Amino acid sequence: MHSKLSVELAGLRLVNPTMLAAGILGMTNLSLKRVAEAGAGAVVTKSVGIKPRTGYPNPTIVQTDCGILNAMGLPNPGIKHFAKEIQEAKKTISCPIIVSVYGFSAEEFVKVAEKAEESGADAVELNVSCPHVEKTGSEIGQDMGLLEEVVKTVKKQVNKPVFVKLTPNVTNITKCATATEKAGADAITAINTVRGMAINAETAKPILGNKFGGLSGPAMKPIALRCVYEVYREVKVPVIGCGGINDWRDAVEFMLAGATAIQIGTAIAFKGLDVFQSINKGIEAYLETKGYESVREIVGLSHRC
Ligand code: DHB
Repeated sequence: MHSKLSVELAGLRLVNPTMLAAGILGMTNLSLKRVAEAGAGAVVTKSVGIKPRTGYPNPTIVQTDCGILNAMGLPNPGIKHFAKEIQEAKKTISCPIIVSVYGFSAEEFVKVAEKAEESGADAVELNVSCPHVEKTGSEIGQDMGLLEEVVKTVKKQVNKPVFVKLTPNVTNITKCATATEKAGADAITAINTVRGMAINAETAKPILGNKFGGLSGPAMKPIALRCVYEVYREVKVPVIGCGGINDWRDAVEFMLAGATAIQIGTAIAFKGLDVFQSINKGIEAYLETKGYESVREIVGLSHRC
C-alpha cells in the first residue's frame, strides 16, 4: 500500500520523504526515537567511527546571519558502544535507521559499516564530506581515487544499501557523483556542510575552537539545490537532498530538483521537531492543490520544464 507521501529509496520504504540529517539528535536510541515519533520518514545517526573521539575544544558552534557554523570534530562513542544504541533503536523505531559512518581509511569505513549492519542498521551513509577533520571527511570526498576506493571497498563487504554524502567544497560535484555511482553507491546525499569560519572583531581571533567549521542552514540552500539539480542530471541512483531545508516549500523545491527524499538538520534547532509534521502536511497540501497523486510524481520535475 502506497500513500501519497511514501517513497522508495534504494530498496527502503519511507512513509514520507523527510529524514533526520546526520549530526543532530542522532547519538542515542532515545533521541532517534523522539525524531521518528515526530514524523520523520527515516533517521540518520551522528557520524560514528571505529574508536571513541572527544572532538574539538569549545566553542564548537556559532550562529551566523542565515545559518549555523559548527566544528564538533566528529565526537562519538565509537561503533562498539554505539552498536548497543542501534540495537535498542531497532526495537522501538519503525522507520528505517541509517547509520552515518566515517573512517580514516577504506578499511576503517568497512569495519564500522559492517558492525552497523550487524547491529541492525537499514543502510549506512558514508560521511566522506566533513569539511574540517583532517585525513577523513572531505579530504576523501575531494579525491576521486580515494572516494572510489572507499565506496567500492564498503560495497564489497556490506549488503545493506550504501548512501554516500558528498561535499559541496569541490569545483565540480557531478564528477564526484559519477565516481560515487560507478563505485557502486546505492544513493547519493547532496550535500554536507560548506566550509566556513567566523572571526570576532573585538578579540581579533577566529571564534571556533577549530577555526574552521561547516556552515548549515538557510544560507546554504541555493548551493544545495544547485548541487541536487546537477547531480540528478548525471546519475541514475536516487538523490537525497540536504542543506537549508526549512519548510515544506524548500522540501518541494528540492524534490523538483531531483531529490527522492530530503534531510532536515538545522531547521530542528530553529523550529523544533514539529518541523517534520509541518513539512509533511505542507507537501500533502501542495500535491492536492496541484492535482498530483503522489510525491513521487514531482521528483525531478523541474528538469522537464
Ligand atoms: C562535523 C561533521 C560534519 O560532517 C559536518 O558537516 C560538520 C561538522 C563535526 O562533527 O564536526
